[in-house]
Amino acid sequence: MADTLNAETTLQSPSRLSAFRAVRQRSMLLAEGLSAEDLAAQSMADASPGKWHLAHTSWFFEKFILREQSDYQCFNPVFDELFNSYYLSVGQPYARPQRGLITRPSLQEVLDYRAYVDEYMVRGLERGVIDDGVMTVGLHHEMQHQELFLTDLLHLFSHNPLKPAVKKSDSHRGPADAAALQWQTFDEQIIPIGAGSEGFSYDCERPNHRHLLSAFALATRPINNAEWLEFMSDGGYTTPLLWLSDGWACLQKTGWRAPAYWQQADNEWQQFGLDGLQTLDPKAPVTHISYYEAQAFAHWAGKRLPREQELEFIAQQTARSGNFLEQERWRPCASSGTGMQQIYGDVWEWTQSAFLPYPGFVAEQGALGEYNGKFMSRQFVLKGGSCVTPIEQMRASYRNFFYPHQRWQFTGLRLASDV
Ligand SMILES: [Fe+2]
Repeated sequence: MADTLNAETTLQSPSRLSAFRAVRQRSMLLAEGLSAEDLAAQSMADASPGKWHLAHTSWFFEKFILREQSDYQCFNPVFDELFNSYYLSVGQPYARPQRGLITRPSLQEVLDYRAYVDEYMVRGLERGVIDDGVMTVGLHHEMQHQELFLTDLLHLFSHNPLKPAVKKSDSHRGPADAAALQWQTFDEQIIPIGAGSEGFSYDCERPNHRHLLSAFALATRPINNAEWLEFMSDGGYTTPLLWLSDGWACLQKTGWRAPAYWQQADNEWQQFGLDGLQTLDPKAPVTHISYYEAQAFAHWAGKRLPREQELEFIAQQTARSGNFLEQERWRPCASSGTGMQQIYGDVWEWTQSAFLPYPGFVAEQGALGEYNGKFMSRQFVLKGGSCVTPIEQMRASYRNFFYPHQRWQFTGLRLASDV
């Protein structure tokens, strides 16, 4: 498995065909070792069964590419309802909170569906009749679902007292000489924000525009578990004045007292992850926290969450490398070294920026216009990618977005302050 996940193929491949095969195969590799039962269950409305992810990513290619072709024979027209996520312009999707009820088609039938779509796609690519732009969206879409596939399974498995590991790992600990938290300051300046014309980007990253960045200071690494424990022992979860009103209401409702997947045993904190239950690593970046918790922590620390443009500005100057899916570490790890650390990988970093259209935003044409734009309400931007993000999905301009109460993704924080 390691060979293929680590392979620098996918989108850099010399041919569109090998890029397609590499991305599609990786989804199958991620499902290796999981049973039909593992892949059928749904643990909450926000998460989908693994089987659904495998089918939906195939439906995407079928619906937006193959069905446009006259010689394509539809695999099963009912799949249009079952495996459409939210594209109202092309049909009525099956209710998301009930995806766990889809016991038919079976896993085997879904795998057959994948193979069927792949066969037509490969044939079309060989004949040169596949729309390159839409296929590229389809590959990036599938990479997004590879991350969701894992985080949804993590949420599902966390409910099981057997605490099963989704993946095996022997390298979940970071270095002994973990980086200290330092600060770097940056002057006021006008910077370019958003994706340029080179390479792939989603519509929400465009257009590239100028932004006046005020002087700011940024922590050189994300907040770690030891620092989060300090926040907890100093009344972080019991002091309402640290919290936004919505955040405090959410805390009352949920009873949060620690990040998701933490549990205490014999005075020791443990953390459930894709690699099973592990002793909490104090130096690793804290993860599975909501926006509300991140904001309360920043308030407690006398700092603030970064703005999305601040993190994008730093990312523009940073080489894209880090603890991504390809490393197969399956959890955020401490890093060593000096200077700005972990801008990419490990944890998605919450920003205080609402997910809103940039000046001049134009949604993608057609049904794909529903991809991002209609979600620009009540969500916050996260930057940088996580330990289960495929590296090729990531770039400085990438804007992830989640609701402020959500914490089943690998979400963490880095502190910023005004200068
Ligand atoms: Fe999707």
